[in-house]
Amino acid sequence: MLIFRLPYTRAAVAEIHRFTDLTPTGIGHKTRCDVEFRGFLLPRGTHVLSNLTACHRDPKYWKQPMDFQPENFLDADGQYIENKEGFAPFGVGESFRVCVIHKKLDAAVESCRKLCKQMYTVSV
Ligand code: HEM
Repeated sequence: MLIFRLPYTRAAVAEIHRFTDLTPTGIGHKTRCDVEFRGFLLPRGTHVLSNLTACHRDPKYWKQPMDFQPENFLDADGQYIENKEGFAPFGVGESFRVCVIHKKLDAAVESCRKLCKQMYTVSV
């Protein structure tokens, strides 16, 4: 897919996700058993929300969290940084309970790109 060869475009899409912070807390979850997390006991049945906004606004991960900067997702060689720490627009957790569209996003962006190419003529 061409999108994989367009690091700035990928970075801009990722930055739109970070900056807009569309789903600040994801979906509510509930613990199925007693869980100890960082010294806290979460008894079975505790409601848990992931604070995605805190990740997307944390200066530990982003130089200027309140500014829109696709460069947040580019390394020194201008390449797209995969799996950037602090970035979780589709929820946290790899194998379960993240947004179902997560892995399909690049394909969706690629479809949009093809559609735009058919509809518009771009010149510089
Ligand atoms: C930019 C667009 C989107 C964002 C940022 C987004 C984000 C999220 C987030 C944060 C969750 C909660 C994950 C969790 O904590 O469990 C979620 C769940 C989900 N999303 Fe999305 N989503 C987007 C688009 C979509 C679209 C287009 C669809 C369907 C076509 C979709 C279907 C779902 C479903 C079915 C779940 C529940 C998954 C589960 O609990 O097993 N999302 N999404």
